[in-house]
Amino acid sequence: MLDDILDYLQHIRERPVWQPIPQDVRASFNQTLPARPAELAAVHEIFMRDVLPYAVGNAHPGFMGWVHGGGTPVGMLAEMLAAGLNANLGGRDQMPVEVERQVLQWVRELFGFPESASGLFVTGTSMANLIAVLVARTAALGVNVRRLGIAAGGKGLIAYTAAGAHGSIAQAMDLAGLGSDALRVIAVNDRNQMDGEALQQAIAADRDAGLTPFFIAGTVGSVDVGAIDDLDSLADIGRREGLWFHVDGAYGALALLAQDIAPRLKGIERADSVAFDFHKWGQVPYDAGFVLVRDGKIHRQTFAAPTAYLRREKRGMAAGSPWPCDFGPDLSRGFRALKAWFTLKVYGAEQLGKMISKTCALARYLAQRIETLPQLELLAAVSLNIVCFRYRSEDSDRVNADIVAALQESGIAAPSTTIVKGRLAIRVAIVNHRTDTRDIDVLLQAVLDFGSAYAGRRAVEGVS
Ligand SMILES: Cc1ncc(COP(=O)(O)O)c(C=O)c1O
Repeated sequence: MLDDILDYLQHIRERPVWQPIPQDVRASFNQTLPARPAELAAVHEIFMRDVLPYAVGNAHPGFMGWVHGGGTPVGMLAEMLAAGLNANLGGRDQMPVEVERQVLQWVRELFGFPESASGLFVTGTSMANLIAVLVARTAALGVNVRRLGIAAGGKGLIAYTAAGAHGSIAQAMDLAGLGSDALRVIAVNDRNQMDGEALQQAIAADRDAGLTPFFIAGTVGSVDVGAIDDLDSLADIGRREGLWFHVDGAYGALALLAQDIAPRLKGIERADSVAFDFHKWGQVPYDAGFVLVRDGKIHRQTFAAPTAYLRREKRGMAAGSPWPCDFGPDLSRGFRALKAWFTLKVYGAEQLGKMISKTCALARYLAQRIETLPQLELLAAVSLNIVCFRYRSEDSDRVNADIVAALQESGIAAPSTTIVKGRLAIRVAIVNHRTDTRDIDVLLQAVLDFGSAYAGRRAVEGVS
């Protein structure tokens, strides 16, 4: 099994990025519960034949859709060790929890947070954003909100984020019982950053209406175009207005590792909380999200729940309090920390930073090439590693959607789509450490080929 998966990674460039799942393969996964045992080798064969070839392909250097990390063999092997140990990191006195605390220590150092800051591995930034909203809710309403619910405290808590923010911020408001309508979506400036003036006006209007502003969510690396909010000025507004300042740095926050990008994240060290993923730019295999909270005390007060069966002791296995389960909703927790620990130890912060810089340089290379090609048009300035562009044509939205689908189905490259300024864009997010200029050149040639075929076909259809 190890040989097969290492071969897969070694020769991934020779495979299609993605291929549609054949109907018979999909149908073969509709069987009844297996009552009798089967040979491991036979089951592995099914995996190799029916599962592996039809994954989304984000380990492939031609994968450029959404925001997916590429993973590494180091992370994969660490995951194998973690699974062998079968550690449950909800708590108790064990070295795996110390590994997580070590990673937390590195995260504090990287983000310039104090020793008293707390943090936790979670599934991903969606969960990390939710935890941040819940901690901020406790800070705003007091710990009693846990017992009484928001109806009792009901002060009309209002949050603010930029128009380009990820949907998980609105979802966090929904899940926290505050309602997604209580999230004000603030206009962005020409660099796609939250407009500070508009933010202040919205806060003032809400106060005038008797509501309680409590939370600002800035973004580092917006999902559509990779924009970075002006974090220092958001931190100033948060401090002046007494609001919790959260940063959604799902993929972008780890740009702190990259010397040429880190200065643009100035102000992140002033955040009350940060959400980010090791599984995106950190290349740690899925899943490995992280939430960092400046005030460890209020973080703990938001989740810790004394119960007889989770009693803490000074000695024995029940020592070592506080436990990770005191900082989030999960009691059963896998050993995500190990693959992040291995990745940081084996590659080191400098090399990871250089890899992040390289993906941004590739995005600039792609943008420069687009600007030399009259058939193509850049739709947004390139801030980090995301390039949004289109093939110029009549019925451009349809043609560009067709180009992206054709690219994916051809297995040549896999960008995704988004809407920029009302137009459908081919969106290329270069996250994978394996991607290089060859992959960008292949992508561009294929866009031109499919573009001329689809645009030509539209023109003929238009005439007939
Ligand atoms: C800016 C931003 N926030 C949040 C998320 C959600 O992160 P996850 O998929 O790890 O839950 C993403 C995902 O791409 C993102 O780009």
